[in-house]
Amino acid sequence: MYHSEIIGHGMYVPPGVVTNHDLSKIMETSHEWIVQRSGIEERRWVSPEVTTTDLALKASEEAIANAGIDKSEIDCILFATVSPDHDFPGSACFLQPKLGLKEIPAIDVRQQCSGFIYAMSMADAFIKTGQYKTILIVGAEVHSKGLDKTTKGRDVAVLFGDGAGAIIMRRKEVKDCLKDSFIWSTHLFTDGSSAKDLWLEAPGMALGPERLTHEMIETGKHYPYMNGKKVFANAVRRMCECTILALEANKLKLEDIDLFLFHQANMRINQMVAQELKIPEDKVYNTIQKYGNTTAATIPIGMAEAVKAQKLKKGSLVANAVFGSGFTWASAVYRW
Ligand SMILES: CC(C)(COP(=O)(O)OP(=O)(O)OC[C@H]1O[C@@H](n2cnc3c(N)ncnc32)[C@H](O)[C@@H]1OP(=O)(O)O)[C@@H](O)C(=O)NCCC(=O)NCCS
Repeated sequence: MYHSEIIGHGMYVPPGVVTNHDLSKIMETSHEWIVQRSGIEERRWVSPEVTTTDLALKASEEAIANAGIDKSEIDCILFATVSPDHDFPGSACFLQPKLGLKEIPAIDVRQQCSGFIYAMSMADAFIKTGQYKTILIVGAEVHSKGLDKTTKGRDVAVLFGDGAGAIIMRRKEVKDCLKDSFIWSTHLFTDGSSAKDLWLEAPGMALGPERLTHEMIETGKHYPYMNGKKVFANAVRRMCECTILALEANKLKLEDIDLFLFHQANMRINQMVAQELKIPEDKVYNTIQKYGNTTAATIPIGMAEAVKAQKLKKGSLVANAVFGSGFTWASAVYRW
């Protein structure tokens, strides 16, 4: 059977830094509140003309160059995002021509903060069945254009940032299961009964004769709503559960893992997961301080930054755990 390997990575964040102090000028919040509750010090926001697929393009180009392949070798694109350029077609359809690629399948993955691991899992399955050989997976978000930046929306607005990350996954014939670089496992979960605890209600076909009305805009239904405490508690619980499951499935102990790359929603969530599982601090790599929550982009951004920081090296055994709207959660284990 074929396996799949991550052969290239890339990331891109827009240059516009927005500090907590900047936010405190436009809404009632403070640097201290944001850092204490979330660990976030700053995030990036795009300028008005920049789109999600613009960020995705830059991250993808870096991943292609890093993989040392010609882009014509890519035979499928999987694009994880919660902030698409348009409702339809999917953002992968807009990215494909920007990359100068033709006719290969370009698929959007709509699994919010868990989207990138869902896409990795789908790519792994495509490669294992022999359907595709070299897959570009990208996670990209422009949140800044969709947040309520007044005091009313401050519980959500301070947490999210813009950014993109990408990897190339390619077919690999594994000779040594323990030493070769390849994806060992992915595990995916959803509990749709909590769908409305973190959601964007409008525009929506479920809303009556019109998917978007002036009234919906006046009442802020076009901004994300989050039941923060419920999300927090479930994130800790589910990320712990799916990490343990991934380790058990691979007959691994915590100490076998070289690096834990968790979703970046809130530093306190990751600290509680590490505490609960007794993971030493130096084995967890966080980027939330600089970028906030970039949803589907946090995992590939984490990979790229961890490589730069020399925390992630060829041969490292990595565990990912993510949690997000849906609720969805997922884990992955692979040798880098
Ligand atoms: C959002 C979150 C940081 C809020 O932290 P919390 O400890 O639950 O805070 P609370 O909701 O109890 O709010 C405490 C107070 O701070 C206020 N507050 C909310 N946002 C604020 C902000 N940005 N600045 C200042 N005060 C704020 C609230 O209005 C509330 O005031 P009140 O006590 O007068 O009513 C936290 O719930 C969280 O991180 N949840 C998970 C978020 C997440 O991970 N989302 C993405 C998942 S993928």
